[in-house]
Amino acid sequence: MNYEEFREAGHSLVDYIANYLEQLKDKPLFPDVEPSMMYSLFDEPIPNSPISLSAIQKTLEEKLVPYCAHVNHPGYMGLITPSPNPAGILGDFLAAALNQNVGAYTIGPSATAMELQVVRWLNDLIGFDAKAGGNLTSGGMMANFIGLKLARDCTSGDTIQYEGVQDKWAVYTSEERHVSIDKAVDAIGIGRNSLRAIPTDENYQVRIDALEEALEKDKKEGIRPLCIVGLGGTTNLGAVDDLEALHVIAHREECWFHVDAAYGGGMLLSLENKGLLKGLHLADSVTIDPHKWFYAPLDVGAVLVKDHDQLTRSFGIQHPYLMDQNQKKNERYQFYVHGFEQSKRFRSLKVWMSFQHYGKDQMGSWVDKNINQARHLHQLACNSTDFESATEPKMSAICIRYKAEGLSNEQLSLLHIQVAERIERAGQYWFATTELKGKTWFRINPVNLNTTIETMDSLFKTLQKYCREAEELF
Ligand SMILES: Cc1ncc(COP(=O)(O)O)c(C=O)c1O
Repeated sequence: MNYEEFREAGHSLVDYIANYLEQLKDKPLFPDVEPSMMYSLFDEPIPNSPISLSAIQKTLEEKLVPYCAHVNHPGYMGLITPSPNPAGILGDFLAAALNQNVGAYTIGPSATAMELQVVRWLNDLIGFDAKAGGNLTSGGMMANFIGLKLARDCTSGDTIQYEGVQDKWAVYTSEERHVSIDKAVDAIGIGRNSLRAIPTDENYQVRIDALEEALEKDKKEGIRPLCIVGLGGTTNLGAVDDLEALHVIAHREECWFHVDAAYGGGMLLSLENKGLLKGLHLADSVTIDPHKWFYAPLDVGAVLVKDHDQLTRSFGIQHPYLMDQNQKKNERYQFYVHGFEQSKRFRSLKVWMSFQHYGKDQMGSWVDKNINQARHLHQLACNSTDFESATEPKMSAICIRYKAEGLSNEQLSLLHIQVAERIERAGQYWFATTELKGKTWFRINPVNLNTTIETMDSLFKTLQKYCREAEELF
């Protein structure tokens, strides 16, 4: 290995990244090219003639970087992927070099200790006591899957992980859930039809009366509640269910209570908007994604579990080839015994470095800034005659909508999709469209260190202009 070349190329790459992050705001946010052009860029046989790292960096500067979706751009307010904080970026760089495998203590002793500590910090934020545990995961999808598996095993008296699903079970959650809950219900073997999508009220919170009705109906048909999944921040709007009420019902029904706070978990850092996730500590398990609103680079999600031992009861299989004499002394924590993954990325380092470098409160002030930006946009929409806002944002996700009197619902839906596409092509902003209660909305969600109030002002002006122009064409 040529470490001299590594050193030089590494310095050059870090310089390039720093310039990229500093100068990005003047570049187009999203590439206006056809996917086929993108695929042809990398269409070549496996290279067999060595190329220097500096030449490779040049190729990347030409072929990869210009065609990225630049989530660090101030105008990126789309699907929940943050602008990563620089300390976290360095954390992932070092994690790759050390290549610690956190699945087993012997392949990462200090990394295991750090991973446990970061899990502890997240449990502290929730308010879970010393009995709690957890796993860092690839994201909210996997964290929700683990939460639902724990639910399945615990509610069945720890039988299903051995005997398979014998009885009829159902999982209850809001119609505003993320699709990861549907996938998890499928993956734990009770079938997607066993998910009960309960309607929400005008604040997009799950309706407790409708939940009670669904439970009653199922009971009459011999279907038992396996888990209630509360939402600690919906993907569309950051709406938070009544977690205390859901806990009372889960307790009464003797089933697991999981809360999906993959996005909303960032509110635990907020200084100005505390208390929104009231009752979170009552959950049996909670999903929080540091790679969303803790501004960590992908990937790092987390499932936090009130009773650590449920992780062991659900996942604790030890194959002989993984046995380690010392482990019998119970001194070496083995994530593979208390979680799903065996080979396991060292995800905690970037989160640990973020907290160390910025401190919890500074990270909380970033969260509050994003909330203020969303509220500002809400005000702009409310003050205008041609836009409406679904609700005042509790978090940074906001849905607004153009109201053209003369257009049908279908035409308006098309208008929103066309405007979002045109704005994507113009390259200054990126956001999504979504459906809420039968209508199409712009879904705008800054989880971004570089967005400002001015970004929101100019975005709103752009939206007004493009929507009015689009209306003319109908
Ligand atoms: C509420 C919620 N849960 C789960 C997920 C899935 O998270 P991930 O994309 O990290 O797998 C998302 C993603 O946006 C989400 O908003």
